[in-house]
Amino acid sequence: MPATVLVVGGAGFIGSHTCVELLQHGYEVVVVDDLSNSSPHSLERVAKIADTAVPVLYVMDIRDRSALSEVFRAHPIEAVIHFAAKKAVGESVGMPVEYYDNNVGGTTALVSAMREHGVRRLVFSSSCSVYGNAVKVPLTERDPVAPTNPYASSKWLCEQILTDVCRRVPGMNVLNLRYFNPVGAHPSGLLGEDPRGVPVNLMPYMSRVAHGRLARLRVFGDDYPTVDGTGVRDYVHVMDVAEGHRVALQHLDDEAGMRTFNLGTGVGSSVLQLIAAFEDATGRRIPYDVTDRRPGDVAALVADPTAVNRAWNWSTSRDLAAMCRDAWHFQSRNLAGYAD
Ligand code: UFG
Repeated sequence: MPATVLVVGGAGFIGSHTCVELLQHGYEVVVVDDLSNSSPHSLERVAKIADTAVPVLYVMDIRDRSALSEVFRAHPIEAVIHFAAKKAVGESVGMPVEYYDNNVGGTTALVSAMREHGVRRLVFSSSCSVYGNAVKVPLTERDPVAPTNPYASSKWLCEQILTDVCRRVPGMNVLNLRYFNPVGAHPSGLLGEDPRGVPVNLMPYMSRVAHGRLARLRVFGDDYPTVDGTGVRDYVHVMDVAEGHRVALQHLDDEAGMRTFNLGTGVGSSVLQLIAAFEDATGRRIPYDVTDRRPGDVAALVADPTAVNRAWNWSTSRDLAAMCRDAWHFQSRNLAGYAD
């Protein structure tokens, strides 16, 4: 019997790419997603790429505890990957209660259901944003955390909750992955990032500008203490992030309790550097204006990926050019996203 993995938020950007990776490696996949920022069509694309049946999808909010219990009852779930969260930094500043309610409340409901049904293995999606205004980059997992916005705080709270649960519940193993900035798409052009409405993140926004669906990119601030004054991030290909989750599942039982790893490349790129890389990779021009800083943003976040490299003998392998090329390939083949 193949192992069954519950992928919470599996119709979303990172979740859907991870489903492909798991199906291609023989896992059985069950998806829970509220579709608030994702499309069920992504799972049809997942099945097409992996050449399997479309994964079972439960459209529901994980805070609906009885519905969630039903899912655990219906499938022999051996491990859970929890992607589901609201994730826009700027938006979180304006709606903190919704962010805590959704991200923290969703995580406690999920962990309760896992405990109730004896499931003890979890891979959790955290974020580099927990580090806040980093004093220096690259960041190791031992560097202090200092979230600067409700999104980041919600992820940090979840980390603390999971740490406490691991101390309390015998046999509970959690791999807490702090992603840096996942971008790009499946190289087939079938699967990619398709946020609802106007994108808030840089790469999907830029792809739509390249395509002419949005007029100009706004560069949020050029007065940061960085190479060219614009924000520096560690962009990591979503295929590497997906692969990282598959490898994480294999390492869940290496050690008991809660373990935290950065998931990034170790390479930082400024907004202007990403624009230049995108223009090089796609041959498209990106018109932009420099505007004020975005509330809640920080100057630079770059991973030191040494810990994960050593623990799993694994590292990311795709560069910025591939991230831009694949993001653009998806965008140009799917003019209206999955609605096409
Ligand atoms: N930026 C712009 N213009 C835009 C959008 C972003 O200049 O239109 C800048 C931001 O100021 C920042 C950089 O581009 O310097 C990256 O911003 P993103 O919004 O793409 O991503 P964040 O760094 O804010 O990261 C957040 C979360 C991560 C998550 C990521 C992608 O902190 O956990 O979004 O969802 F991975």
